[in-house]
Amino acid sequence: MARCYCRWRRVLICLCTPCIFLILLFTYVSIMLCMGMTEVATPANTFIATNPHFVANGLLKNETFAPLPKTFWEDQQQTKALWNHLQQAVDYHFNPILHPKKAKRLLRNSSFYDFLLKQSFSEVASFDSVMEDFDKLPEQLQRFVRYMQRRDYPILHHPDGGCGAQGKGEQEPTLLLFAIKTTPANFNNRQAIRQTWGQVGWVAGQKINGSGRDNVGGYVRRVFLLGKQNTKELSVDVSELLKLESNLYGDILQWDFEDTFFNLTLKDVLFWSWFSRFCRQTRFVFKGDDDVFVNTPKLITYLQIQLQTARVKNNMQEFMIGEVIEAASPNRVNISKYFIPDSFYEGSYPTYAGGGGVVYSGQVARRLHLMSKRVHLFPIDDVYVGICMIRLSAFPMHHPAFLMFDFPKDDWKDPCLYHTILVVHKRSPEQVVQLWAGLKETQAQCGDVISETADLLGFSHTTISGFTENGLKNMQ
Ligand SMILES: *[C@@H]1O[C@H](CO)[C@@H](O)[C@H](O)[C@H]1NC(C)=O
Ligand SMILES: *[C@@H]1O[C@H](CO)[C@@H](O)[C@H](O)[C@H]1NC(C)=O
Ligand SMILES: *[C@@H]1O[C@H](CO)[C@@H](O)[C@H](O)[C@H]1NC(C)=O
Ligand SMILES: *[C@@H]1O[C@H](CO)[C@@H](O)[C@H](O)[C@H]1NC(C)=O
Ligand SMILES: *[C@@H]1O[C@H](CO)[C@@H](O)[C@H](O)[C@H]1NC(C)=O
Repeated sequence: MARCYCRWRRVLICLCTPCIFLILLFTYVSIMLCMGMTEVATPANTFIATNPHFVANGLLKNETFAPLPKTFWEDQQQTKALWNHLQQAVDYHFNPILHPKKAKRLLRNSSFYDFLLKQSFSEVASFDSVMEDFDKLPEQLQRFVRYMQRRDYPILHHPDGGCGAQGKGEQEPTLLLFAIKTTPANFNNRQAIRQTWGQVGWVAGQKINGSGRDNVGGYVRRVFLLGKQNTKELSVDVSELLKLESNLYGDILQWDFEDTFFNLTLKDVLFWSWFSRFCRQTRFVFKGDDDVFVNTPKLITYLQIQLQTARVKNNMQEFMIGEVIEAASPNRVNISKYFIPDSFYEGSYPTYAGGGGVVYSGQVARRLHLMSKRVHLFPIDDVYVGICMIRLSAFPMHHPAFLMFDFPKDDWKDPCLYHTILVVHKRSPEQVVQLWAGLKETQAQCGDVISETADLLGFSHTTISGFTENGLKNMQ
């Protein structure tokens, strides 16, 4: 009897021990997996605000955005494109799956970003081996690559009053800061903006009669973003005038880098840095060109409505609207201003908002500032913003009243046309002044149009993030 009992016991031990081990192992793996997932998927709210989600690099299955791998363990894809290669080296350190603890710790140490960006250059052997035809590249790209590590350019002129030029006696936080890209020579553009849509101080919203929304408005400030005059393009030295202009208007923010097309991204990066320091209270930023026309009263009304809309209000850390361009490919025509060879960048561009005029929240500006510290500069500024946005898991919303590619031809004769839009691109300073006067003159006549398009302002907020047919500037 005893022998039999012993034998059964042995059999039981033989069978059960592996079972128990397997069950323990399974439990352990499940717990670890769950912990890993919650860590990645549901960070605390404060974490979202400062520490964006990670998006790895590589190729996306549906191929709308290149730098996303098919599987997370494919961390180092083979690529010969210089930008992708450099960015991969940086992104690798922030992969929360490969380095769960490290990624979080690193996110808090901003001097480490600098170090990583520099290090990635030494990791990517040498420019010449990566870009065999470096010498054959257009000169502006060669210059960009030579200086793409540098972004610590000193400020030459800056507004005295902190966050841009302001009106008298602001009684509440600034609703909107106009941050306008301009060049030293474009005095007329700046002056037209100062006299018209870029006036600072209290701006009343658009009057829509009988709707009870007549009293909305907000405080507006203004700052112009400039580099140094490009000595090759312009022989007349206007730097003394710019100094006077800065003293007179207090709206000049100028840095010590050459104001060229491929240096525009520096204006974004340095503006975010300045903004994070001086504009804690500012709710929205309009970032755009100095040749756009903005219907400011309508924009003010639109933004006030957004602030009252729960869905938007709770997502201010992602708020960006403009003309959204999706699935664009780099321009490969070597004579184009936008030319980006495949030896420099591979894959499509991420969804981005056209840089002629885009509005985002102060929170987005601060998050972009943090994110930009670990994203290598890209020569095309609005694409760069898109690259940073996708790493923040934030997506720009398309708004049909942002017209970066102008009106359809048939609409031109309509006198109430400019009452229907928020922003339209490519207007001369003279046109801007005339259009602004026209906007006031036709106010009564266009009352019905204003009421009709009030819907456009937010009551039926459209988020068509579809690709617009004419959004072709970076493609082909
Ligand atoms: C492709 O990927 C993008 C980005 O994740 C997504 O928004 C889009 O819906 C995808 N498109 C298709 C056809 O799956
Ligand atoms: C931040 O990173 C720098 C550069 O690698 C390093 O020297 C420093 O010790 C780090 N600081 C902290 C608090 O981890
Ligand atoms: C707005 O006011 C004008 C003139 O006061 C009037 O003719 C028009 O019908 C009003 N529009 C609406 C939508 O109430
Ligand atoms: C950007 O500015 C720097 C500093 O002035 C200059 O050396 C560089 O050539 C500029 N880059 C481009 C692409 O123009
Ligand atoms: C542009 O490309 C064409 C054909 O691909 C070539 O013949 C031409 O030399 C290139 N031009 C420049 C400026 O690189």
